[in-house]
Amino acid sequence: MTVEILVLAAGEGKRMRSALPKVLHTLAGRPLLQHVLDTARSLQPDSCHVVVGHGAGAVREALAANPVNWVPQSEQLGTGHAVIQALPAVDDTATVLVLYGDVPLVPAQSLRELMVAAQDGAALLTAQVVDPTGYGRILRDENAELTGVVEEKDASTEQRQICEINSGILAAPARLLKEWLPRVENNNAQGEYYLPDVLALSVAEGRPVKTVLAANELDILGVNDRVQLNLLEREYQYRQALALLHAGTGLADAGRLDIRGELTCAEEVFIDVNVVIEGWVNLGRDCTIGANCVLIDCTIGDGVEVKPFSHLEGVVVGDDCVIGPFARLRPDTVLEQGVRIGNFVETKKSRIGQGSKVNHLSYIGDCSMGAGVNIGAGTITCNYDGANKSPTTIGDGVFVGSNSTLVAPLQIEQGGFIGAGSIITKPVAEDQLAISRSRQRNLDGWNRPVKKDT
Ligand code: UD1
Ligand code: CA
Repeated sequence: MTVEILVLAAGEGKRMRSALPKVLHTLAGRPLLQHVLDTARSLQPDSCHVVVGHGAGAVREALAANPVNWVPQSEQLGTGHAVIQALPAVDDTATVLVLYGDVPLVPAQSLRELMVAAQDGAALLTAQVVDPTGYGRILRDENAELTGVVEEKDASTEQRQICEINSGILAAPARLLKEWLPRVENNNAQGEYYLPDVLALSVAEGRPVKTVLAANELDILGVNDRVQLNLLEREYQYRQALALLHAGTGLADAGRLDIRGELTCAEEVFIDVNVVIEGWVNLGRDCTIGANCVLIDCTIGDGVEVKPFSHLEGVVVGDDCVIGPFARLRPDTVLEQGVRIGNFVETKKSRIGQGSKVNHLSYIGDCSMGAGVNIGAGTITCNYDGANKSPTTIGDGVFVGSNSTLVAPLQIEQGGFIGAGSIITKPVAEDQLAISRSRQRNLDGWNRPVKKDT
């Protein structure tokens, strides 16, 4: 069976009240249309066509990485009209599956069932809903066979009571769609060419239309405004959280974890409330992520504790490290095993060797640090002179006293010892003590200032 997928994404989305084309609004960090294209791709179609109109340039640019055929629809004259734009590129022998760019949660399984049902006629995905307002209603005869779809704006008061609704998603042989669609008219309340009108044509020809009922109303919910977008965001996040719980990850609250990307967890991981995950994040065995942490593109080893309010991006963390609270690890930070990064410490493009400690209020940038190093509170690697970045190299077992300024480029060799409050501009050799601060003078019998009379 040849399968070609058509995704309709030309609509404006006025009710979003946004300059951004609707299908580029994000769900879990990815554009709505990307979700639909990912689902489409999972069905391994022979080709995928996307009908674009409003904001077509922006949509194509944002989703350029997808191998799809972009079909322009310059005027939005209805869903039937949109499908007609794409049909010339579709093979006559194909089964066509029509998806909507603003219906992001539709499950691949329902779509597979739909395509199987559409081998020799049309098949429609429907849903039973509590409140059918705004949807096309499914009309059935006394034998419960589908006879057509009526849009809300064209429906009688009686028809509006029907709670089985049209998801809009359907499948049919391309050959039949090509016959039916030119015969669809626009003499309806909206003056549009309605795609679901092909179903009544099919029935009139004696070809019954099969229906597949969606398991969950939210599976087929389309995003028309930000309220619906938020509803789907929460549903999506909750589904991801449930999947983690089922797989054995501990969560303080399934409703307070947001994954905007991909999270994989080894055994015995625990994630506290209000954690945000972006990009690819991998957590090793026995990791604990504290409340209010943000992890972006991180690989975290086994037995790591990330304490609350820490922000990690583009980092690799070795086993048994302890990070935070209030740590900020920026891209290209690598922590080897057993490193301790404490509060108000920022790192960037630095490798920190096994068991080293940077416990308080420090900036470590462009630094290669050996094992067993102790960095005192308030240490700064001065890696930037206003024009260029320079590296700092710190050997194994170095001790840097508190409030030291390490002016790069700089090398402190193994066992070097920096006195507190120093400004270090010259290399320090192995096991040397370096101090650069003014000597302390203690004066006896000095006169303490007194307040003047005014
Ligand atoms: C459509 C269905 C309705 C169904 C509902 C489900 C029709 C006539 N009605 O109504 O039965 O219950 O979806 O959500 O099909 N689009 C284009 N070009 C156009 C018009 C629309 O690409 O000219 C795209 C939109 O971007 C959107 C989709 O088609 O992704 C649906 O269009 P929309 O206007 O939202 O249809 P509804 O009125 O919601
Ligand atoms: Ca809609």
